[in-house]
Amino acid sequence: MGYQTISVDGSIGPVGAEVSGVDLSQPFSEAVLSEIHSAWLEHHVLFFRDQNLTPTQQAGFAANFGELDVYPFMKALDSHSNVIPIIKEADSSMNFGGAWHTDTSYLDLPPKATLLYAVEVPDEGGDTLFADATAAYAELSDGMKQTLEGLDGIYSPKMVHGASGDYAQVAARENLGEAYGGNTEFTEQEVEHPLIRTHVETGKKSIYCSKPHTHRIDGWTREESIPLFSYLMNYLTQDRFVTRFKWRNGSLAMWDNRCVFHNALNDYAGKRRHMHRVIVQGEKPV
Ligand code: SIN
Repeated sequence: MGYQTISVDGSIGPVGAEVSGVDLSQPFSEAVLSEIHSAWLEHHVLFFRDQNLTPTQQAGFAANFGELDVYPFMKALDSHSNVIPIIKEADSSMNFGGAWHTDTSYLDLPPKATLLYAVEVPDEGGDTLFADATAAYAELSDGMKQTLEGLDGIYSPKMVHGASGDYAQVAARENLGEAYGGNTEFTEQEVEHPLIRTHVETGKKSIYCSKPHTHRIDGWTREESIPLFSYLMNYLTQDRFVTRFKWRNGSLAMWDNRCVFHNALNDYAGKRRHMHRVIVQGEKPV
């Protein structure tokens, strides 16, 4: 697709595009906003370099795409209730977002967009991986598509925050809410969403279930469900669907949780990583 007001470089990997020619701290015209939105729908995740954003400016940019949401498990900045600081200190091993997932799919209304801004990142390490769940769905066999179409998942935050998450990467995130000063009241809640999600704006289908957040398939036992989740996650995260984003201070990534998975790498022991995270309200997955 051709863009008139922004530059969009989609050659950076299988999913995502780097956008230049915009200063996100400033208000911009409807034409620019409309092209950013179109590029986001086309590429699923947009990367902006060399920005200089206060929390209010980051939230202001995010608000162009919908109502801002509040992440229930972590404490926001005192100065801005929609901006969550994600800080991994040099001596900490706790890695927020360190498993393949889409954000908070265990909520009834998961956020459609997440905007993550790099305040201070290590010179090396701490990259984030993004996987294209639409392209992955498209390449499934007709038989697998038909099987998945009829299935709903039971999604639950207890997979992340409670005792039943039995994967190594999930265990590493247990008590995350407490550790970050948020609440833990939602831990037993379960919601039902399809395993295959149709994007309300593009009409495209994507794999949606994720190993850290989907407890089981509706009507199946968890034991029966896990092999299918494992297959889908291994399939979806093959190199041909994945872009690796190397952060620099001032980078901002804006991803579409309806069609892209992500995974924060934990390979920078001894270094500090400080991000600001904002989410935009989404709709019930269909
Ligand atoms: C997240 O999962 O929202 C955080 C990802 C990251 O810190 O790279």
